[in-house]
Amino acid sequence: MTIISVVGARPNFMKAAPVKHAFDRVDGVRHVLVHTGQHYDPNMSDVFFEDLGMGKPDLFLGVGSGSHAEQTARVMVEFEKICTAERPAMVIVYGDVNSTMAAAIVAKKLHIPVAHVESGLRSFDRGMPEEINRIVTDSITDLYFVTEESGRQNLLMDGVRPQRIHLVGNTMIDSLARLTERIGNTRTPGDYIVLTLHRPSNVDDPAALARLITAIEEGAQSCNVRFPVHPRTESVLQSSGIRQRMLDNGRWELLPPAGYRQFIQMVMNARAVVTDSGGIQEETTWLGVPCVTLRETTERPSTVELGTNDLVGIAPNAVREGVRRAVAGAGRMGHTIPPLWDGHAAERIVRVVLQFLQ
Ligand code: UD1
Repeated sequence: MTIISVVGARPNFMKAAPVKHAFDRVDGVRHVLVHTGQHYDPNMSDVFFEDLGMGKPDLFLGVGSGSHAEQTARVMVEFEKICTAERPAMVIVYGDVNSTMAAAIVAKKLHIPVAHVESGLRSFDRGMPEEINRIVTDSITDLYFVTEESGRQNLLMDGVRPQRIHLVGNTMIDSLARLTERIGNTRTPGDYIVLTLHRPSNVDDPAALARLITAIEEGAQSCNVRFPVHPRTESVLQSSGIRQRMLDNGRWELLPPAGYRQFIQMVMNARAVVTDSGGIQEETTWLGVPCVTLRETTERPSTVELGTNDLVGIAPNAVREGVRRAVAGAGRMGHTIPPLWDGHAAERIVRVVLQFLQ
């Protein structure tokens, strides 16, 4: 029996790795890992495969960058060939990137059952491309694996049958637990904060990006800002001249995108993390590191209700004060780990998939 997992972009890799490892231990299942090539730079892709002990993907589609329509269409055309040749018993997709939605549509139209890992999350902001990917994918999914209770509630509201929804925990946290078993999880906060920014609404407009950068700089006070820069953000920093201004300021450490292990080590010992990412809100909650999220909404409410996440929005004053609070150790202190984020989500997923396919 062949089961295909599809990954494409950086945040997919740590979600799929534990599922691949768990299927590799099951006799009679051939798990095939397909990489669409949505992310392709070595430091956006290869380094994660190494750090996660995944070897190389079994199949690489090489779709690369493009507009949403171009990228989605290229994944669909190439992945259809794979599905037709392999006739898998199931296709598993992860998260909310363009590759997730494209692969789900292709599989479903070929009558192949689809499982969605990290389904049900909703920001209720349809201006985010990921929200469209989530809604479309979940509308045609057969097996829904959710990471937190809000996911189950959102799916029930959309009319999904309760038997199809499985609260299994978080495979991204499985990867993190596995990594910290190797490198340790002792936290010694240094005099720096970590920043990540890549969301189109924050980085595509140079004036908006400059306002965020200034607010973060002011809030960070005497801390350095360690900033591994996403390629989308790098191109705006360079063309707008903001990059030079940051270097002149002296407290910015502008770095290339970091590998998984390097990034987690950096986060673990940061005073705080400032981000507009989805997954980093979860990783900081699990690690107990204060997180300031520069977005108006989150599809991961458990990180705010239970974890260390402070959702401050993007107004400059709110950003400056949020960062200042986190740096001073006066940010969100309450910290419990959401239910089932215990490092064993992938094993639960494999059990449910095998039962479903029987
Ligand atoms: C994608 C996901 C987003 C996820 C993010 C993580 C969608 C709609 N968005 O956004 O949900 O949070 O990945 O990074 O799927 N580029 C490179 N090298 C690469 C990959 C991209 O230089 O390896 C550049 C290209 O110029 C490209 C741009 O980055 O146009 C954006 O890449 P893309 O995959 O379109 O979206 P992300 O912003 O990375």
